[in-house]
Amino acid sequence: MRIIKTSTFFASLFERGFVDAPIPDNISLVEEIKRLKAAKNAVLLAHYYQEGAIQDLADFLGDSLFLAKAAAEVSSEIIVFAGVHFMAETAKIINPTKKVLLPDLNAGCSLADSCPPNAFAAFKAKHPGAIVVTYINCSAKIKALSDIVCTSSNAVRVIESIPKDQTIIFAPDKNLGRYLIKETGRHMILWEGSCIVHEAFSFDKIIALAQQHPNAKFIAHPESESQVLDIAQYIGSTSGLLDFVQVDNAAAYIVATEHGILHEMKKRAPQKTFIPAPVSDDTCACSECGFMKLNTLEKLYLCLKHELPEINIEPSLMAAAKTPIERMLALS
Ligand code: 13P
Ligand code: SF4
Repeated sequence: MRIIKTSTFFASLFERGFVDAPIPDNISLVEEIKRLKAAKNAVLLAHYYQEGAIQDLADFLGDSLFLAKAAAEVSSEIIVFAGVHFMAETAKIINPTKKVLLPDLNAGCSLADSCPPNAFAAFKAKHPGAIVVTYINCSAKIKALSDIVCTSSNAVRVIESIPKDQTIIFAPDKNLGRYLIKETGRHMILWEGSCIVHEAFSFDKIIALAQQHPNAKFIAHPESESQVLDIAQYIGSTSGLLDFVQVDNAAAYIVATEHGILHEMKKRAPQKTFIPAPVSDDTCACSECGFMKLNTLEKLYLCLKHELPEINIEPSLMAAAKTPIERMLALS
């Protein structure tokens, strides 16, 4: 029998007799997932930070912006989101009649957690008249307190769409916020949130690694700290990084973003070498997002089979969170 790491949610379902685990050894999870997807006409959306086997099964594979756009256009009844909670929640908000499933409801995000709604509402109240721009990596309640949402792919465009004399609050990622201030020259009041994965990269170890690989270019996601971004030869969202390594002429790259992106980079540019940027703590796999990696093939299979766990959001919250997302999509 396969041993599976069940979430608390599945454990409770199992205890209550709703889940027929363990999964027999003699089934192919990949084939079963394909079969269930087809039988239920379900669409699988996966982020580049998912494990490779899940990425390979996706109908739509991409970064946060691409997946939000894809979710808006799904016509099938079921969307399975292999990503984290705020992504599945966004899919539900922009396509509310669909059943949106997330293989593990505990797949959260340190950035979203770093911005509690009550504290953010109080912060916003201190700056009346400011336009609130929020990174999509936040909860529906924070989106509902926002004027417009952005992702790392379109953040510069979103900021530049706002009149120059307008004060801007940017939340929750202070690192992306600082990068945007530098790129756009705008005055922005930043919320002090961060991504545990992108803050884990070690400046000193990156410098040492770059010296060992003088021909490798160093590329980074803008959620990384400014010290790291200052030495990057290219900064971009996950899709931006992926596009760059295909058109650029270097043979090797040191990549400062979540490890999962290397799967697609190797597929799209098999002749090139990709080296994950080193992290400060040698004892953990910090460049892997523990939240993203909560989704596994086993949980994806169970999720499709039982059509659980499902994302449900209170209708008034959904309506309030939809407008700032739609404003972003209209600009993209
Ligand atoms: P993008 O998908 O916009 O590159 O963001 C990366 C990320 O951290 C998602 O959680
Ligand atoms: Fe959140 Fe960072 Fe994980 Fe993305 S990589 S889901 S921002 S914790």
